[in-house]
Amino acid sequence: MPGLPIKPAVLTEIQRQFNHELSAAHAYTALAQWCAAQNLKGFARFFHKQAGEEREHAQKFMDHLLDRGASPELLAIPAPRTRFKNVLEVAQHAREMEQVNTAGIHQAYEAALAEKDYPAQVALQWFISEQVEEEAWCDELVGRVEAANCAGGASSLDRHLEKILDAKAHGGE
Ligand SMILES: [Fe+2]
Ligand SMILES: [Fe+2]
Repeated sequence: MPGLPIKPAVLTEIQRQFNHELSAAHAYTALAQWCAAQNLKGFARFFHKQAGEEREHAQKFMDHLLDRGASPELLAIPAPRTRFKNVLEVAQHAREMEQVNTAGIHQAYEAALAEKDYPAQVALQWFISEQVEEEAWCDELVGRVEAANCAGGASSLDRHLEKILDAKAHGGE
């Protein structure tokens, strides 16, 4: 069952991004674990939710490839960063990861444009919008952690983090 065939250049990009989403899930799990170890349980829960979202993103790409008659290939996932000096470094790392991820999505979209692959373009447009949200909550997170650090209020922020960021990051769930 070939489905709507996918050109090699687009397949390569979606395949790469599929694995990248899995590595993002792994990286967020590492952030959650670091925060849990510091008793920042609100941060930990928030990052665990993010890890779950990244797995859903990977699933979307996997479904797209399968629907197009291609076989998604699971590659080795690099070990994520696990050492941080403080929660500000954690927030900054999350933001850097999302910036890299946005660039990866855009790169895949450019391949879909160049190959006139309309179904892939539509699938990737969802991710383009998603990254706008992802970058917005990361910016907010970094800003709030910076402010909390000055006032020594990291644990107070921890208590409210999910309420503050969840609507932005998880569509109001
Ligand atoms: Fe993602
Ligand atoms: Fe993300």
